[in-house]
Amino acid sequence: MSKPKIIVTRRWHEAVEKELLARFDTQLNEDDHPMSVAELQAALRNADAVLPTVCDKITAEVLGADNIQAKIMGSNGVGFNHIDLDAAKAAGLTVTNTPEVLTDCTADLAMTLLLSVARRAGEGERHLRSKSWTGWRPTHMMGTSVTGKTLGLIGMGRIARAVAARAAHGFNMKIIFHDPFPPSADDLEGLNATQCSSPEEVFAKADFVSLHCPGGEATYHLISDDAFAAMKSGAFLINTARGDVVEEAALVRALQSGAIAGAGLDVFEKEPKVSDELMAMENVVLLPHLGSATSETRYAMGMRVVENLEAFFAGDTPRDKLV
Ligand code: DGY
Repeated sequence: MSKPKIIVTRRWHEAVEKELLARFDTQLNEDDHPMSVAELQAALRNADAVLPTVCDKITAEVLGADNIQAKIMGSNGVGFNHIDLDAAKAAGLTVTNTPEVLTDCTADLAMTLLLSVARRAGEGERHLRSKSWTGWRPTHMMGTSVTGKTLGLIGMGRIARAVAARAAHGFNMKIIFHDPFPPSADDLEGLNATQCSSPEEVFAKADFVSLHCPGGEATYHLISDDAFAAMKSGAFLINTARGDVVEEAALVRALQSGAIAGAGLDVFEKEPKVSDELMAMENVVLLPHLGSATSETRYAMGMRVVENLEAFFAGDTPRDKLV
């Protein structure tokens, strides 16, 4: 039997690309350019499997292409708000993602942002590199202590719980959270986490608000003027979830007016565009969507896609099937 034909939309971890080339009739995106709608549609017409990433917008328009041959889309990432799942299902496609393997990596990055913004690490590094540092002094760049503070989590899925574990056990933080679908008592064990009845309760009590909800319609602009008004004026917002959960213009207003103290952001509403106002602020730490960006994790994510494809082509249900 001939090998299934697969098209990969961006460059992947080298070792995973080798696996893909060995196991399937694989077409790589040699120059790593973002694919256009027409290219994505052509991929769906010409391959048995298309492997997109979280930056490919797999819209109803893309999935409305005629003569789609692909039967599975193995997305390289846990989030799936870039794929119109209803349209994919209607087009007869199975869609998979890569949960679990990036949980620790993303939680580490949330803590990186939290610590960096509280302790003014980005600002301090810029200060030093610009040769402005004149030496130690008691009033220089005082930040905000993290240990013992209250961390409020919006969403309490796997990544949020991994952040909670780091914050509770590493930094003695008090953990509060809101999730419309709260985890089981077993999953919360050892975190000493207190459930809040609404996001507003979290906003009112937390010193750090960290977002861990999926993007998309249900959470679009969940964090807007009202949310910022409900937060403590000394609070920091951390976002490693999805950019469109936060109304960026409202965040800029909140930072400019002092409604909150700062923000640590890995994702943006109009990614990769970031508003000029945020770029100019010292009390924000900005990262280019690096949540899962370690070599180990990107390898594991890629191999999870490979596993899903192998299962699918063997006639089994892939373990990470979304639709
Ligand atoms: C995901 O997997 O959804 C991440 O955003 C990519 O790091």
